[in-house]
Amino acid sequence: MIVKNYKIKNSSSTDIYISQDYNYYLELIGERDLIIITDNILYNLYPEAFKNKKCIVINHGEENKTLKTVEKIIENLIAFGADRNTLILGFGGGMICDITGFVAGVFMRGASFGFVATTLLAQVDAAIGGKNGVNFKNFKNYIGSIIQPEFVVCDANLLKTLPKLDYISGLGEVIKYAFISDLSFFEYLDENSNEILNQNPDILNYILKKCVEIKAKIVEEDSNDFGLRHILNFGHTIGHSIEIMENIPHGIAVAKGIIEEIKISVKLEYADKSLIEIAEKLISKFIPDYKCEIRQEHIDLLVKDKKKSGNMLNFVFLTNIGQPLIVKTDFQDIIKAIKS
Ligand SMILES: NC(=O)c1ccc[n+]([C@@H]2O[C@H](COP(=O)([O-])OP(=O)(O)OC[C@H]3O[C@@H](n4cnc5c(N)ncnc54)[C@H](O)[C@@H]3O)[C@@H](O)[C@H]2O)c1
Repeated sequence: MIVKNYKIKNSSSTDIYISQDYNYYLELIGERDLIIITDNILYNLYPEAFKNKKCIVINHGEENKTLKTVEKIIENLIAFGADRNTLILGFGGGMICDITGFVAGVFMRGASFGFVATTLLAQVDAAIGGKNGVNFKNFKNYIGSIIQPEFVVCDANLLKTLPKLDYISGLGEVIKYAFISDLSFFEYLDENSNEILNQNPDILNYILKKCVEIKAKIVEEDSNDFGLRHILNFGHTIGHSIEIMENIPHGIAVAKGIIEEIKISVKLEYADKSLIEIAEKLISKFIPDYKCEIRQEHIDLLVKDKKKSGNMLNFVFLTNIGQPLIVKTDFQDIIKAIKS
């Protein structure tokens, strides 16, 4: 069952499957030659998924999302005799999806690719929307492109083996969708927090569907990230520096960043003070250790943020639940608000 199909102008369309066994991708590739890119953790956890298949196994971890790994993958693709009729499947979390999308985009000027997304973060975010890439030196996601995968299969059963911290990290992005898009979804998360933490399958599938629909709709409207897509960055401007400084998983840093960005929204008079308490109440249900102290080091990192152009920054304020507002803002005003 296709849960969502999104089509970008002048680009291929993507079918997203939820509540589907991960092996479903085999029905989608037809007679095409298949090469799977995965990481060592998944390769060992799910041997049956890779049995008798051409596999390229890379080391897990963000530090391996590099051009060096891209080179290694391309060497392996050539050794396997891949050509433009090969379907390249990324089987993994956001790291694997990012590097697979990038490789597929450049290999012989473009090969078909799809994903089996295996982390919550990948299922609700990284696998959707076509952004891909690798880190370069100390810069995160500095080299990459935007190309849509042919399909994404999201099997919630795969999340059972996910370390708890990675699951919670995915919830950070889920929470973000509720903040930027939908009061009723926000209330749903609030009311079902225990079931969500316990991975109740029905509730999890509902959440996956909801998040995929929210992200796909935004991507359809602004695939190249020139306007509306910025709202997906809510929580990320501050969250990114928290992620690096505290060395914590991406989604957890985003959740902390959401609170800090709401505080900035209040200080710059875009939102009422009560929004801080509302946000903290929801986030604390999933991430008890959500508090964060923004120090000068965080600010220094912010200054280097690649999304800043000149002194102005496209900052996503939250005026209320479900009501983000993108405002080109003087960077110094953000800094003053953080420090005040
Ligand atoms: N392209 C985008 O739009 C986008 C959006 C958000 C994040 N990202 C990227 O996604 C990456 C983070 O993704 P992530 O949080 O999925 O981390 P990840 O891909 O690094 O996976 C986290 C860990 O979980 C393991 N793992 C994956 N699936 C598992 C499973 N089912 N069971 C057990 N272990 C499993 C992995 O081996 C890894 O060790 C970052 O590189 C980030 O830049 C991209």
